[in-house]
Amino acid sequence: MRRRKTAVAAACCLALLLGTLLNVLFVPGSELPPPPPPPRDGAPPSPPGAPLEPPEEEGGGGRAALARQLRERYEEVLRYRQPRAAGARRAVRPRERRLMDLAPARTSAEQQPRGRAAAERGRASAELGLEPPPLGCRELRAAGGVQYLGSGYTKAVYKAVLNRSLAVALKAVDFGGHDVARCVRQFAALADCYRLAAYKIVKEMVLLQRLRHANVLQLYGYCYQDSNDIPDTLTAITELGSPLEMIQLLQTSWEDRFRICLSLVRLLHYLAHSPLGSVTLLDFRPRQFVIVDGELKVTDLDDASIEESSCTSNSDCFMEFPARNFTLPCSVEGRCQNMNEKRNLYNAYRFFFTYLLPHSAPPSLRPLLDKIVNATGELHWGIDETAAQLERVLNLYKSGEYLQNTTRISKSEYRRVPEAFIPDENYRCWPSYHHKGCLLSVFDVNEAIEICDSYSQCKAFVLTNQTTWTGRQLVFFKAASNHIMPDPDKITYVKVTD
Ligand SMILES: Nc1ncnc2c1ncn2[C@@H]1O[C@H](COP(=O)(O)OP(=O)(O)OP(=O)(O)O)[C@@H](O)[C@H]1O
Ligand SMILES: *[C@@H]1O[C@H](CO)[C@@H](O)[C@H](O)[C@H]1NC(C)=O
Ligand SMILES: *[C@@H]1O[C@H](CO)[C@@H](O)[C@H](O)[C@H]1NC(C)=O
Ligand SMILES: *[C@@H]1O[C@H](CO)[C@@H](O)[C@H](O)[C@H]1NC(C)=O
Ligand SMILES: *[C@@H]1O[C@H](CO)[C@@H](O)[C@H](O)[C@H]1NC(C)=O
Ligand SMILES: *[C@@H]1O[C@H](CO)[C@@H](O)[C@H](O)[C@H]1NC(C)=O
Repeated sequence: MRRRKTAVAAACCLALLLGTLLNVLFVPGSELPPPPPPPRDGAPPSPPGAPLEPPEEEGGGGRAALARQLRERYEEVLRYRQPRAAGARRAVRPRERRLMDLAPARTSAEQQPRGRAAAERGRASAELGLEPPPLGCRELRAAGGVQYLGSGYTKAVYKAVLNRSLAVALKAVDFGGHDVARCVRQFAALADCYRLAAYKIVKEMVLLQRLRHANVLQLYGYCYQDSNDIPDTLTAITELGSPLEMIQLLQTSWEDRFRICLSLVRLLHYLAHSPLGSVTLLDFRPRQFVIVDGELKVTDLDDASIEESSCTSNSDCFMEFPARNFTLPCSVEGRCQNMNEKRNLYNAYRFFFTYLLPHSAPPSLRPLLDKIVNATGELHWGIDETAAQLERVLNLYKSGEYLQNTTRISKSEYRRVPEAFIPDENYRCWPSYHHKGCLLSVFDVNEAIEICDSYSQCKAFVLTNQTTWTGRQLVFFKAASNHIMPDPDKITYVKVTD
């Protein structure tokens, strides 16, 4: 244990992060005690963590306010859980409360018989409506290669390798983060402030579990363990992604940028029709998403909401954005119609579509893409229509139909050299799939000819056997054809007239 801590400490030299990291990992604890207990009415008992500072603003009412916030978060999480059999729900709740309050006195996992740990894991999972996770504390304690990835207001995120093979993301409350710091300043109750923040992770885990979709990050498991000051610190184990860097995305091919928009639209379509109802992402900044194998996935769900605003008139259904305001119709049932869906759509427009969709698209697709951008920016379409239109663009692109109306008269003639390639003679183009050469995707050899015709440097090109996510073929464009080498998987075309 000691050696491991030392190794981690050496690897992670940011002293500020160390406290959190050690809380996340390698602290012996129970395999899976229940989730943080809910608050009782009134002031909670004194927390084990000694107050750091006297309360700032709220005098005697401070503790009650904190207890109320804890209760609200707890009840929110219960709303997202797997529903029980109809009618059983109300009856189940008080019993679960007791279960969570009466957290069993725990010994270290090492002393705990396997069977008992497994039973507790199952019970804690049931309380949250979570399925028993494939990964838990045991895997976490054997984690290697821990690296800090990033943090926001509430959470710190680490990369780790579990089981020597699976790279995962670990999410834990950031003790040095804005959320905990502000709460401790106000209430001087570290343990309860920890719990308040941890409910965000619990909420996120429950949502990740209930919202299963190719564009929602996968939850692999979680671990509750005691740390020095705080009992039951929570670590969520999820699929690993890479941050979505807008600047980087603007430099990639239209095909890859379109993929981001398509995955976002598929996600929003799912969220609008999810098992929980219409889900809106209140925080929609690009940092709430990550990229996994070229697909966008939502990672941060602690600001998701299923509340649909109630209204008495249209003016209650006001949505304010920095550059634009909207007023949605108030339905006869007294709900703002499709507000969750439309908020997501406008955010998709302003953070993603305007930057990623039209720019350097195939010219024949531009009118359709401009229409999509305009219709989402005006909120003329709902998510169903938007998703259908993006799928249509995908079909036009994949099938090569988008090329049909272009007149294709080649200016040059090309000599086909089968089973051959040109190793060097690269030139650079933009946006290339290869940083040294000009590597682009084409629908067929005719499109490659068209591209080579339009570049004055292009004197030859090499069809490879590699394809992109849409099934298009990758082609190297070359500045000369002086050295041609045999290669059974490639076909070279050399310009013979100019
Ligand atoms: N699964 C993941 N793989 C890789 N990086 C991730 C993953 N999840 C989160 N991150 C990175 O960690 C950062 C913080 O994570 P997250 O957004 O969940 O924390 P937060 O405290 O809720 O942040 P915020 O204050 O922005 O809501 C993110 O900006 C993201 O770049
Ligand atoms: C860990 O890896 C081993 C072999 O690499 C595999 O058999 C086992 O199923 C893995 N365990 C988990 C929990 O993934
Ligand atoms: C949106 O509404 C707010 C509040 O009424 C107002 O201050 C702002 O000017 C409006 N913005 C636009 C772009 O109309
Ligand atoms: C949509 O198109 C109309 C008409 O051309 C234009 O006035 C409007 O500004 C466009 N809206 C957006 C959000 O691009
Ligand atoms: C190609 O032209 C036909 C007939 O003019 C039209 O119906 C079709 O939509 C066009 N396709 C594209 C991709 O522009
Ligand atoms: C391309 O060719 C290489 C070398 O023969 C082969 O290993 C690879 O599987 C091929 N890839 C595809 C996608 O066919």
